[in-house]
Formats: sequence, structure tokens, C-alpha cells
Amino acid sequence: MKALVLSGGSGMRLRPFSHSMAKQLMPIANRPVLEYVLANIRALGVTEIGIIVGDRAQEIIDFAGDGSRFGARVTYIHQERPLGLAHCVLLARPFLGDDDFVMYLGDNMLPQGVADIAEDFAARRPDAQVLVHKVADPRAFGVVELDVEGRVERLVEKPEEPRSDLGLIGVYFFTPAVHEAVASIEPSARGELEITDAVQWLVARGADVRASEYGGYWKDTGRAEDVLDCNRRLLESLEPRIAGEVGADCVVDGAVVVEAGARVVRSRIEGPVIVGADSIIEDSHIGPRTSIGRGCVLRRAGVAGSIVLDNASVSGLAGLHDSIIGRNASVSASARPRLVIGDDARVEIPA
Ligand code: G1P
Repeated sequence: MKALVLSGGSGMRLRPFSHSMAKQLMPIANRPVLEYVLANIRALGVTEIGIIVGDRAQEIIDFAGDGSRFGARVTYIHQERPLGLAHCVLLARPFLGDDDFVMYLGDNMLPQGVADIAEDFAARRPDAQVLVHKVADPRAFGVVELDVEGRVERLVEKPEEPRSDLGLIGVYFFTPAVHEAVASIEPSARGELEITDAVQWLVARGADVRASEYGGYWKDTGRAEDVLDCNRRLLESLEPRIAGEVGADCVVDGAVVVEAGARVVRSRIEGPVIVGADSIIEDSHIGPRTSIGRGCVLRRAGVAGSIVLDNASVSGLAGLHDSIIGRNASVSASARPRLVIGDDARVEIPA
């Protein structure tokens, strides 16, 4: 089996961060989403991985390289414009050949992995097997209707009136039967070749399409709120490790990671919290459920439920919560509020 990872999307919903970074590289517990994706694929024993890249190709290539770091071999496939998930399969045909493959959206987090579903697919080998999850608002997803035996009866991409609450998760198992389907469908109203339509094309022609309900935690990290939720969730299983310096004048509760070169002085760290390498925390209260990147400086700061990206600083501000602070950004207290913020940023301050 091969893997096809889709990392071409522009990440409009994740602005402003996606103005300056590939959304698949957003850090969750200080590791890029794509790292979790590649680890889950490797856990299936798959070593041949194709990655679809778009405008931010170079950053993805700089991160994943030839794949050897992950014990895999990576082939990059360029997509000029984001023309849909099924378009990615069309582009990847030379790489995929006639092999079965798992298609994995590069911004989807499934911390419990997909090994059991991959085994089920290999054992029964239906034409296609999709993953579904009960979602609160199915209108934002591909929606699947099942018969009593778990066979897929119908799929509709982002229906206005959903007929089930089972949303498609961004992991799909395919046999080569999908290639005829992606070549046969027409672009949707949003101008994309939808993988949902390709799978529906298979269903309509009597193919055996199965669905597995994914019981674990799943998140499409498409929006800032999703990234924060996922970060808080992953920190719950953080293994404590202190490699940096924590002063005797500090209080450390719960699971805390302080990476090498980081320094914590006169502060309270309320885990789960991860403090990245070479960051400085002074006179602050950090946590719970907070990730601080590398090279950050936090002085007289109170930060909870948040993500602070590399080389950002916070000073003189308590009570920051559920925030994402971008790379090199600086947030500080001042008698007269003043903002120098980038395009599409969002600020909420007391009125
Ligand atoms: C895509 C798929 C949709 C699926 C979702 C999962 O949506 O088209 O069927 O439910 O991923 O993350 P998109 O992110 O392109 O809006």
C-alpha cells in the first residue's frame, strides 16, 4: 500500500497564520500537524508516500525532505491550483500506479491512529473504505448515509439539508477502482473535483464502499479554534520531561516539559504545559494546556489554554487565554493600547 498526503490547500480559514506558513505545519504540542500525519502513515507499515504540494511547496519540502527522517520515501507532486481532492488523485496517478493507497488530508489530526481500520480494509478489500465521525454540524463536511450493514448508500459534499450526522473524516482507503471515478466526475459548485463525488460515483455503479466510524478524537485543524482545541487535547497525554532550567523559586504542577536551553524563573507552571527550547519564562503563570514554542520570552505574563509560536514575546499581561500568538509577534502591556497587527488578525480586548 502507498500513501497520498494532501498538503496543497491554501488554508484561508487559518489566516493570519497561513499568510506566512503552510497550515500543515501549524504546531500542536510543538510538533507540526504533518509530523503526526506522517507518523500515523508509517505506523501502517507504509513507506512510499506521495505529498501533494501547492503554493507553500518549499516549506513542506524543507520539513519532510526525502522522508528518510520518518523512515519513508517521499515523492512530491505539484498542484498548480487547489482544484479539489479528487484532482489530487488524478495528478498522483503516475506515483500511485495500480497500488491500493490511503489518502490522508495533511491537516487532519487523529491521535489514536488508523491502524485497525487499515487492517480491516486490507482483510476485506472493498473498492473503497471511508472514515466517518458524528459531527455537530454536518453541513460543513462530506455527509455519508449508511445501510444497516455499514455499507455506504449515499455521499453528499456539504449538503444544506444533511440526511445523517456522519461527516467524512480526511482519511480514505482506496483500491485502483477510484481512478476511473476521479476521471469521470465534473467540478462541483465550488469549482473543485470532490473526492466525495468520486466515491458517490463508485456507489452509484454498485461498487462495494464501506465506512468505518472513527471512535477516537478527530480534528480537521482548518481554523484557529480547531488548532487550539487539538493542542489542549494532545497536551492531556504529555509525558513530563525537564531538560532546561527550572529555578528553585518556581512552582511546577502536573505534566510539564521544559526543553533544553529553556529557563524558567520565579514562575508558576500549571501543567500540562510545554516550554520549547531556548525560551525564557520569568515572573509568569503559564498554563494549564499551553504550548510555548522555541526562543519565546514571557515576562510577567499569564497565559492559559494557548499556543505561543517560536520567538514570540509576551510581557506585563496577565489573563491571556485561548490565544494563538504568531512567530516573532510581541504582545505587551501599555497605558494606551496600540496595535500593529497583520492582515486578517483578530484581537479581543476588554472594552
Ligand atoms: C474536505 C472534504 C470533506 C471532508 C473534510 C474533512 O473538506 O471535501 O468531504 O468532510 O475535508 O476534513 P474541505 O476541507 O475541503 O472543505
